[in-house]
Amino acid sequence: MARVEDRTFICSQRREDAGPTNNWIDPQEMRVTLDGLFDGAMRGRTMYVVPFSMGPLGSSIAHIGVELSDSPYVVANMRIMTRMGRAVYDVLGENGECVPCVHSVGAPLGGGRKDVAWPCNDTRYIVHFPESREIWSFGSGYGGNALLGKKCFALRIASTMGRDEGWLAEHMLILGVTSPQGRKYHVAAAFPSVCGKTNFAMLIPPRDLNGWKVTTIGDDIALIKPGRDGRLYAINPEAGYFGVAPGTSEKTNFNAMATLKENVIFTNVALTDDGDIWWEDMTDTPPAHLIDWQGRDWTPEIAKETGAKAAHPNARFTAPASQCPSIDPDWENPAGVPIDAFIFGGRRSNTVPLVTEARDWKSGVYMAAMMGSETTAAAAGQQGIVRRNPFAMLPFCSYNMSDYFGHWLKMGERLEALNAKTPKFFCVNWFRKGDDGKFVWPGFGENMRVLNWMIGRIEGTTKGEEHAFGILPRYEDIDWGALGFTREQFEKVISVNDAAWRDELFKKLKQGLPEALPEARADMEKRLVA
Ligand code: GTP
Ligand code: SPV
Ligand code: MN
Repeated sequence: MARVEDRTFICSQRREDAGPTNNWIDPQEMRVTLDGLFDGAMRGRTMYVVPFSMGPLGSSIAHIGVELSDSPYVVANMRIMTRMGRAVYDVLGENGECVPCVHSVGAPLGGGRKDVAWPCNDTRYIVHFPESREIWSFGSGYGGNALLGKKCFALRIASTMGRDEGWLAEHMLILGVTSPQGRKYHVAAAFPSVCGKTNFAMLIPPRDLNGWKVTTIGDDIALIKPGRDGRLYAINPEAGYFGVAPGTSEKTNFNAMATLKENVIFTNVALTDDGDIWWEDMTDTPPAHLIDWQGRDWTPEIAKETGAKAAHPNARFTAPASQCPSIDPDWENPAGVPIDAFIFGGRRSNTVPLVTEARDWKSGVYMAAMMGSETTAAAAGQQGIVRRNPFAMLPFCSYNMSDYFGHWLKMGERLEALNAKTPKFFCVNWFRKGDDGKFVWPGFGENMRVLNWMIGRIEGTTKGEEHAFGILPRYEDIDWGALGFTREQFEKVISVNDAAWRDELFKKLKQGLPEALPEARADMEKRLVA
């Protein structure tokens, strides 16, 4: 049902290279463990050979892998999520580069063992060898644990490749935004799992801003390489969406719902009596009867009594990106799209304002490095507690996080040295809550008003106010149109409490961080009211 972060391992030769945020095991020791686990693991099942490309076939930003798996569910998902099949071999040729990925649900058959609907094993290992660029996954059939092209390859292995080769692999959506004057910008945004990437990537502007257009390039991962012109070019390595089902409705994400009309795999959702699917908040009124994600009877009455969810909170849909009405004409452009801004966001009930612009690349890196977010159902473990999730990459960066910050800082210096216009950095938070425990900011399509302000900052046409951490919009700097969002409400989502921020800033920056980061912190601290 979810990624198992405590069973996810980075087996670099040296522990320091994995860093304090990863589970490290000595690669020699891990190979012995894996040899034992995989011996006979697929017995009685079909082993599928799945050649796939992460990115448009033949793009210089794309990467190829081959996954062996004993799960037909994995194969069907990979068919939607990646460019899979014979054409990959043509690109690979006799001696092209490819990342070997081995996956088993760890449930051999025979000897009287009967198959079950969702075979898996209580023992789980999601293992990465960043130096030899290999992935071994045992015991789980769930998305991020089993579709090895996605988080394991396009983020964990790719982040190490990017460090070695001077590019970036990020947990970011990519969108295009076109102004009423026809000027087009591209934005890449990093929010942790279940924090709004798919929704933001498919945003439909509110009616009074209908001269603006948002188009979707990717909803989860971006591979970003510097071009000769000093700009950063991003591709979406995926061919489909493995999206969060609960909360998705025609009202909140019309484009996602339209994408789900056909050729879709639904995982851990509820089943209606007429064979359709349902999840929490898909419709205002739930059906009178459902079979829940675990195969039990579900009614609104039962839910009221027991709190039982019809769909698992991390239930997912797998759908081809090509079916999305807002798909960008350039989404498969092998050269990628040039990035004008990076946005970092989290799920924070308090403290973090609706939007902040960083002063420059360095303080933007600091902001992104400091980012915290309340944990969600995407990963097994306690939900709703604030944890640091730098760049939304905590579970996905396969090397020392401090080197990762350094890599970002170096990228900035490299671009600045080329005299190119570097992307701006923004921080956002759609999730501030009022005293009543409800979200103050309406979010979804209304996020266009915030994006609008950011584009104005890029064009140099909208104003803001200097603050300790950067630049905040004033009430009059945002086009409120028909929303009717009051000054008081705005105050609730934009206010910065210096004491709370002091706390936030003093969350320790561990040893070994690049010098520029404590520097950026000292600078922000000076600006906070004592
Ligand atoms: P992953 O696929 O796990 O990486 O998640 P994601 O970052 O793509 O998140 P997604 O867009 O699927 O949204 C996750 C949940 O947050 C859904 O239940 C959404 O309905 C909800 N959500 C998304 N955007 C907003 C928003 O602007 N405001 C509020 N209140 N909720 C939102
Ligand atoms: C996430 O958890 O960020 C996802 C889903 O996008 S998974 O593929 O399971 O990682
Ligand atoms: Mn994700």
